[in-house]
Amino acid sequence: MISFVSAGPGDPELITLKGLKALQKADFVLFTGSLVPKELLKWSNPNAIIKNSYKMSYEEIFEIFKENRNKNLVRLQTGDVTLYSTLAKQIEFLEKEKIEYEIIPGVSAAFGASSACKIEYTIPGISQTLILTRVEGKTPNPEPLENILRCQNSSLVFYLSITLIDELIKKALEMGYPKNTPCWVVEKASWPEEKIYKGDLETISKKVSSIKGVALILLGEFLRQKEKLPSYLYSQKWS
Ligand SMILES: C[S@@+](CC[C@H](N)C(=O)[O-])C[C@H]1O[C@@H](n2cnc3c(N)ncnc32)[C@H](O)[C@@H]1O
Repeated sequence: MISFVSAGPGDPELITLKGLKALQKADFVLFTGSLVPKELLKWSNPNAIIKNSYKMSYEEIFEIFKENRNKNLVRLQTGDVTLYSTLAKQIEFLEKEKIEYEIIPGVSAAFGASSACKIEYTIPGISQTLILTRVEGKTPNPEPLENILRCQNSSLVFYLSITLIDELIKKALEMGYPKNTPCWVVEKASWPEEKIYKGDLETISKKVSSIKGVALILLGEFLRQKEKLPSYLYSQKWS
């Protein structure tokens, strides 16, 4: 059995209990490089073989899957394993080889970031939709950036896009976003070195120019956290 385990955004305690139990009975842990917190490896079965897949090719990873098909192999990946994770490609191989697998969900970076910023993504009268996306880089995004930015009443979270932030800002301004639209960047959410940069479309770029790595861009009016409508959830007027 291969278990795809979501490691969470950085704080090792953000793995799920189910994910931790899978690690504790693993014979082999194949993890995806530096974004997987090292503490999680320490919490694994002490007899497990532990390998970093960072420089491996798909063929090498698939060979390990095949060799360990009758053992407990944990494929430990950052955040939630169903987002930007090459999971589909790995599953395609397992299905072809008829190797059993399970997927254990987890906390994606977007939720590490919202907790770090102490914000809610869904604000009555402002945004009831959360879009997790990326600015097109080497990997094409079939949804043009214009279409994503047209969803101006949504909460936008951009993964893998920090080095493309100027392109994002330029497009948003061209499309008529006010310059003071809130835009925040969260670097290494939930890690000890976590940093939150708060600004707007006019000011954020300068504040984050030195970040090259692990960060999310949050964009939209929701960041003001000001309800335009009262929430009905606890209203005494509604039964
Ligand atoms: C290959 S994707 C993996 C995403 C992961 N599966 C998830 O659900 O969070 C890596 C990107 O996720 C974002 N990311 C991952 N962990 C993060 C964190 N702790 N803080 C901010 N951004 C993070 C960054 O944009 C990074 O470039």
